[in-house]
Amino acid sequence: MLFAAKFAEKSGEGKMQILMEQNTNQQQYIKQLRLWNDKYAAETGARRRAFVLTFGCQQNEADSEKLKGTALAMGYELTEQPAQADLIVVNTCAIREHAELKALSIIGQYKHIKQKHPDLVIAVCGCMPAQESRKNELKNKYPYVDLVFGTTSAHRFPELLHEKLERGKRLFCPEATEGIVVEGIPVKRESSYRAWVSVMYGCNNFCSYCIVPYVRGRERSRRAEDVIAEVRELVESGYRDITLLGQNVNSYGKDLGNGYDFADLLRDVSTIEGDYLLHFMSSHPKDATEKLIDVMATCPHIAPHFHLPMQSGSDRVLKAMNRRYDTEKYYSIVEYMRSKIPGIAITSDIIVGFPGETEEDFEGTLEMLRRVRFDMLYSFIFSPRKGTPADTMPDPVPDAVKSERFSRLLALQNEISLEKNLPLEGKTLRVLCDGVSKTNAELCQGRTDQGKIVFFPCDPARMGDYVCVHIDRADSYALYGTIAEA
Ligand code: SAH
Ligand code: SF4
Ligand code: F3S
Repeated sequence: MLFAAKFAEKSGEGKMQILMEQNTNQQQYIKQLRLWNDKYAAETGARRRAFVLTFGCQQNEADSEKLKGTALAMGYELTEQPAQADLIVVNTCAIREHAELKALSIIGQYKHIKQKHPDLVIAVCGCMPAQESRKNELKNKYPYVDLVFGTTSAHRFPELLHEKLERGKRLFCPEATEGIVVEGIPVKRESSYRAWVSVMYGCNNFCSYCIVPYVRGRERSRRAEDVIAEVRELVESGYRDITLLGQNVNSYGKDLGNGYDFADLLRDVSTIEGDYLLHFMSSHPKDATEKLIDVMATCPHIAPHFHLPMQSGSDRVLKAMNRRYDTEKYYSIVEYMRSKIPGIAITSDIIVGFPGETEEDFEGTLEMLRRVRFDMLYSFIFSPRKGTPADTMPDPVPDAVKSERFSRLLALQNEISLEKNLPLEGKTLRVLCDGVSKTNAELCQGRTDQGKIVFFPCDPARMGDYVCVHIDRADSYALYGTIAEA
């Protein structure tokens, strides 16, 4: 059966039908590929291998965990070595040009692997080929790429791979026109204590610079009971740190039309008993409600951290970005959060050099940084994206001016981050031990409940545990300490 249940059928102009699909019709392809791979393993004594490379945001990380889970279910084993793979899947990002060029350059290198290993299947998926122009580019300039599909057909991965292997022809899957939520796809999580849980897919906001609504389709929410069941299972199997994901989680439920919103979902998820912390991202300021903040203030399982992308501190630029809030509205949310949750960490995204950004506009952004005093910023230089309104806006600002503004923004934020981190020296904080430092193998790395990065000497066996760390030193980027317990 193709569609197990019709989820929320909407009619009327411009509205899309949203269908709830179980992964059932992919099962037959998974099974056939499993038999094919099992036969190969029995004959050769080795399993075919799959390599999955991921670019982009947490949503893409979560999608890759499904691609890996599906590859395992199809009888592949996973490898970290593309040169040893029989199946390479590149899950791409299109948010800025740099992300696309990086993926294309790596895909270019796989040509040599394919020359040595002609049976290798190379698949490119994710946000980049969801754009017709990039799909055509892959078709015409990358003849060794076998299989191309965007985000709206990712759940059809087994079927597409099966078709490619059976017919031996290159396959370029068109994007789905209907909205779809698919449950039951196998998942191979990267971590045994930190997990992503998507609560919704797509975006309806059409910020004028952003490609996401074009490559991920319209908003569609998962059923609350499916989200709650997934989180419960994670908590029961020892997951400590769970992030609810959506491009704008504050729109959760709007398409379900039953009045149940993200604040309701967060409250209900947080009633699950256990030793864990919930995070969520991202939140669009136009939809951040007092109700949501009140839920955060009353539920101990919700991390005292809010990621609230501001993008710009100029009302003129915010309007041109189609963000539908102004700096006063933004600041009022910040004030409400701080009144209800003292000590809450607030982080944000900023775009520097939006078309026509004047020095005065940019000063407005610096002013908002001083006023809000973010704990951390993710900042980006504007990258024009084909097909978005901002791509054709006049942009007289030279690149050198944009780079110089970017450096000023970073310098100011570094000062603020340092001022916010220094008072933590001498304190003892709960930290989730999360990995080994990339620059010093002697140090473990973790995050406080507020999301601050901490480095400390620790037995790697404690990975995934909450530990108490005495903070000895702070800089603008991180905290450094020693374990304060036996
Ligand atoms: N849905 C999330 C953001 C996803 S993209 C949200 O609304 O918060 C992550 C960040 O990338 C955005 O917040 C924005 O700051 C940045 N970004 C998006 N499009 C961009 C572009 N064309 N150029 C530069 N930065 C961009
Ligand atoms: Fe892009 Fe705006 Fe949607 Fe975020 S809310 S994904 S920035 S269009
Ligand atoms: Fe990139 Fe797609 Fe995420 S464009 S940022 S991977 S939604």
